[in-house]
Amino acid sequence: MSFSSFELLDHSKPILVFGRDGQVGKALQVCLKDLKTPAVFLGRAECDLANEDEIKQVLNRYQPQVIINAAAYTAVDKAEGDYDLAFAINAMAPKIMAQYAAGVAHGILVHYSTDYVFADTQTSAYLETDKVGPVDQLCVYGQSKLAGEQAIEEAFNGAHDSGHQTYADRFSRYFILRTSWVYGDGGNFIRTMLRLAGERDQLKVVTDQVGAPTSAGWLAEIGVQIAGSRVESGIYHAVPDGETSWHGLAVFAIETAATAGEGIEVNSENILPIPTTDYPLPAKRPYNSRLSNIKLKQALSEMAFTGQYPHWQEQVEAYVKEYVTASLKS
Ligand SMILES: NC(=O)c1ccc[n+]([C@@H]2O[C@H](COP(=O)([O-])OP(=O)(O)OC[C@H]3O[C@@H](n4cnc5c(N)ncnc54)[C@H](OP(=O)(O)O)[C@@H]3O)[C@@H](O)[C@H]2O)c1
Repeated sequence: MSFSSFELLDHSKPILVFGRDGQVGKALQVCLKDLKTPAVFLGRAECDLANEDEIKQVLNRYQPQVIINAAAYTAVDKAEGDYDLAFAINAMAPKIMAQYAAGVAHGILVHYSTDYVFADTQTSAYLETDKVGPVDQLCVYGQSKLAGEQAIEEAFNGAHDSGHQTYADRFSRYFILRTSWVYGDGGNFIRTMLRLAGERDQLKVVTDQVGAPTSAGWLAEIGVQIAGSRVESGIYHAVPDGETSWHGLAVFAIETAATAGEGIEVNSENILPIPTTDYPLPAKRPYNSRLSNIKLKQALSEMAFTGQYPHWQEQVEAYVKEYVTASLKS
């Protein structure tokens, strides 16, 4: 991928990345390493996103033009009993980042969000313009991520409406990339399934939740690409093509691993599909996690993006093969 489109960037200002040690944060480190503009990656030790003053201090210290927020409170079930902290990290922190970026000439905030802002109000793929919520049907994680999205939109729209930014060509922009079922370098569903498939001769996996598994590496590339583009501010659904259930993903990943030589105990017919009701968890998950990616594809074509738009299967296949190669070496 080429990032030559960064002509609006002041290369003396760093790109500030929050969430260095997460799946997307690690992928961003790979993605940004050859860019002319320097990038600074912050983990929890350098900036605790539950602490408003710490966030303001690092923003003032680094004076970034571009902020990429890959950090979040992502422990979906734990969030049910941790409302205040989930809201601090997922809503207050992005609000401060947005207020900062909205006041910078050509400022840019890239923020990752989730399919959990939708609560099964339809069975087809959600467009960015579809109604979110209703809030009382969302789990705490979903509510907090939605509050983060709204705070970002408010900060940017408020700055533009108030004439805070006088010239249209100096406008700051935000990109909220909603995604689903992320896997990368870190704990995730695919790794759990591959581990269990090496230990057990039978697995039971939920089959009535449908979505698109999304590669953290690809999400990082999309985030960087959109940050350097001239496309309009707004929400974009960032998922590959295709859809599957958790059961479908487990079968695909395990069969791919077996073909690649991983020691697998379980046969495909012993990966049993079960309904969500048979696997109760504290946080309510959406049954329908389908996100339409039409708007993102349109934006990528405006950016003269030449890469092939991916299908989830080809990305999962590459990921599993890499996992197997690494595990055979160790
Ligand atoms: N994972 C998914 O399936 C999924 C699905 C849809 C959307 N998303 C969204 O995609 C984005 C990236 O997800 P991911 O899978 O890369 O998440 P992840 O691997 O869980 O990483 C989240 C990062 O946030 C950091 N963080 C949490 N609390 C913090 C705090 N108080 N101060 C500073 N840093 C803090 C964590 O730090 P530590 O490493 O120190 O814990 C972690 O490195 C998030 O916005 C998430 O909501 C994820």
